[in-house]
Amino acid sequence: MKIAIDGPSGAGKSFLAKALAAHYGIIHVDTGALYRAIGLYAQRQGIALEEVEKICGLLDGINVSLAFSSEGQRVLLNGEDVSDLIRTPEISMYASAVSAFPPVRSFLLETQRSIAREHSVIMDGRDIGTVILPDAQVKIFLVADNRARAERRCIELKEKGIDTSVEEVLADMNKRDENDRTRTTAPAVAAEDAVLLDNSGLNREETLQAAIQIIEGIIKE
Ligand code: DC
Repeated sequence: MKIAIDGPSGAGKSFLAKALAAHYGIIHVDTGALYRAIGLYAQRQGIALEEVEKICGLLDGINVSLAFSSEGQRVLLNGEDVSDLIRTPEISMYASAVSAFPPVRSFLLETQRSIAREHSVIMDGRDIGTVILPDAQVKIFLVADNRARAERRCIELKEKGIDTSVEEVLADMNKRDENDRTRTTAPAVAAEDAVLLDNSGLNREETLQAAIQIIEGIIKE
């Protein structure tokens, strides 16, 4: 079984994908972590956001992989577990910036596809339904209004000890979504056969139930 969950940042993809993976007893692959690891590498090399294209010449020195356990996914950058270090607002911007370059996307393509060849997966990202797993049985494009997304992301960051305001998160999110949606390669748009799920007015449990209904409806057909 392959299920693709795409959508803009803060729409709740990660929570939904995790909950669905637990429900169906399969693994959750958070593909954003791969782009975040490359973004972290760029930042550590002292590359400024404005000249982040330089990362394309450094890909030979990078090894990014994912490891799965009952606790979930960990991301390894040249053997170092960077799963927690990649969750800052700065690295979010780096991830979005590096993800616009075709060499970076090609570099990560096989890592993602090979996981789905070996396991049943719920994979979340921006181009899962369009590029990575065009043959996924179910594709959900998850959206929520801007304010709801910014408020949720702000709470998540506060839980991680990062103090920020909804306005700041909203501004960063809009910039990142604009990058992700308008890039030429693999833009963050819904696949033609994706089901749009707007969870602005839904809590987590209601979102999960709505997604299960979509999945069961498609699988029964
Ligand atoms: O899902 P996330 O916020 O952790 O993703 C970080 C960035 O990585 C996001 O701004 C765009 C990029 N990304 C992508 O281009 N394609 C994916 N499949 C996943 C993430």
